[in-house]
Amino acid sequence: MGDERLLLNGKVAMITGASSGIGAAAARLFAAEGAAVVLVARRKERLDLLVEEIRADGGRAVAVRGDVASSDDVERAVATAVETFGTLDAAFNNAGYATAGTPLHEIDDEVYERTLDVNLRGVWNCLRHQVPVMLGSGAGGSVVNTSSVAGLRATGASAAYVAAKHAVIGLTRAAALDYGRRGVRVNALVVGSTRTEMMEEVLGVDPDLEEVFLAHSVQRRMSGPDEVAQAAAWLCSDRSSFVTGAAMAVDGGATAL
Ligand SMILES: NC(=O)c1ccc[n+]([C@@H]2O[C@H](COP(=O)([O-])OP(=O)(O)OC[C@H]3O[C@@H](n4cnc5c(N)ncnc54)[C@H](O)[C@@H]3O)[C@@H](O)[C@H]2O)c1
Repeated sequence: MGDERLLLNGKVAMITGASSGIGAAAARLFAAEGAAVVLVARRKERLDLLVEEIRADGGRAVAVRGDVASSDDVERAVATAVETFGTLDAAFNNAGYATAGTPLHEIDDEVYERTLDVNLRGVWNCLRHQVPVMLGSGAGGSVVNTSSVAGLRATGASAAYVAAKHAVIGLTRAAALDYGRRGVRVNALVVGSTRTEMMEEVLGVDPDLEEVFLAHSVQRRMSGPDEVAQAAAWLCSDRSSFVTGAAMAVDGGATAL
């Protein structure tokens, strides 16, 4: 059934933060590689356009408005995957929220809480609702959580984000241990500087950061969203069958420096 040469032929994949940037690139790529995609973000109008585009290209997609910080919203998205496409095989937990340019003692409690809620609790909520479906299906599954170079290294004036992205790697490793023998793989992506709306916002606050980010890459450039999505697609596919608990860098060499 389908085209077996495609990387994600016949899989059902949920992607959070799919309304822009890396998530939107992943939505297009996963669908082109044969997956039915469940797209989750808060901006439903954007998701609806993306779903239309994917369907026009012959793909299968459904949009769910949802905030990953809400367990109920994530539960609804997972239920939509099962109701619409029958199961859930893969998940790219990619929604994120970043602020920069503020030293630790000046970060508002509200910003701290929102940063932890979206980046960490969001992944937590996703794992807790996605994994039971994968365990119950008998087919196992693959989960990919978006961390960052900031998940392995500190970047200046963004302590809450650094803490949350470090925690995403810890959570990924813990989940990989819990489910390794039960057919569910869990990996993290260590994403380097990527040209997306989030990056534009950060550079809007402090344009001098562009030079800093370029210096972080041995290739002296930023990634495009599709370059990150390619790694997520491979990790979600059966071709990465012996990879679990990994923090895989897609960072232009930033963590080699
Ligand atoms: N752009 C970079 O340089 C960079 C570097 C390292 C890591 N990352 C990570 O990559 C991921 C994707 O970011 P991006 O660069 O594509 O930025 P982006 O702003 O284009 O995309 C982020 C997406 O997450 C969604 N989102 C934010 N809060 C949400 C919430 N509470 N619930 C559901 N969706 C929510 C946004 O609507 C958007 O679709 C994030 O986790 C980010 O931390 C980005």
